[in-house]
Amino acid sequence: MKKWLQIIACTLFACMMTAGSALAKDKIVVGFSQIGAESAWRVANTDSIVSEAKSRPHIELKFSDAQQKQENQIKAIRSFISQGVDVIAFSPVVETGWEPVLKEAKRAKIPVILSDRAVDVQDDTLWVTFMGSDFVEEGRRAGNWLMENYDRLKNPDKSSDVVNVVELQGTVGSAPAIDRKDGFAEVTKGSAFKIIKSQSGDFTRAKGKEVMEAFLKSEGKKIDVLYAHNDDMALGAIQAIEEYGLNPGKDIIIVSIDAVRGAFEAMVEGKINCTVECSPLLGPQLFDAVEDLMAGKELPKRIVTNEGVFPAETAAETLPTRKY
Ligand code: AHR
Repeated sequence: MKKWLQIIACTLFACMMTAGSALAKDKIVVGFSQIGAESAWRVANTDSIVSEAKSRPHIELKFSDAQQKQENQIKAIRSFISQGVDVIAFSPVVETGWEPVLKEAKRAKIPVILSDRAVDVQDDTLWVTFMGSDFVEEGRRAGNWLMENYDRLKNPDKSSDVVNVVELQGTVGSAPAIDRKDGFAEVTKGSAFKIIKSQSGDFTRAKGKEVMEAFLKSEGKKIDVLYAHNDDMALGAIQAIEEYGLNPGKDIIIVSIDAVRGAFEAMVEGKINCTVECSPLLGPQLFDAVEDLMAGKELPKRIVTNEGVFPAETAAETLPTRKY
């Protein structure tokens, strides 16, 4: 090749490379570590995040599923750090044990967004913002609904002296399990509603069924109410209640949290009495925050999701409008 042709070819190549890297820089790379797929809620949360990322051409999402293990989430975050992503977001499976890895992200100057669940760390500069539900408030809403509606449903004409409640808790050490327990206990304190059994069903349908079977074995017909920290566990428990020969929603009043489609279907059949909403549709909020952050805007430390309470009486009308 002639010398001048070589020069033109090299210049063209250099220009293409520069344009390529400029284009690459236009992309915001986000590493997201998801807990797993333990519930219908979680599946809807993943869909919301993945589909929202796809709809924004300048976002590149690196998604990692931790299969319910904190160690996998820590590995994923370390790998995002070594890949030099622009932002790390994650939904922490449990509250504690995050300091070391969050410090590593801070040293690498990668901002961290908490999505859905909070962490328990001393230094709150280790994360930029926490977006998601107020889990304590959800527990309060479940307790308040129960206290306002139990007599009407189970004990018309009188007021109950003692109401025996069994509680299916979420994953041990997780923010929603801790907070939903606290919120419910706060509003029912000193009332007729007493928790006689409480155990984790790990937010899954299978575990919910298994633990409810054990509750029924030890307490039997003494159980008046089931308070489940999520709908999946309530749906599993319904199977256990029916197999035991009792009517869910009538013999045992059921209040749970999430407001997933399956809970609405169960409410239409009269098997769940109320579900408190916890929205998993956090994708748009998450990527708005990522873009604001990259544009140099300051984010609020806490972004709370707006949510409602759905008693069974509203289920048939609301079911067709549910998005998850
Ligand atoms: O963190 C939100 C909780 O996690 C949902 O209530 C539950 O269904 C999920 O697995």
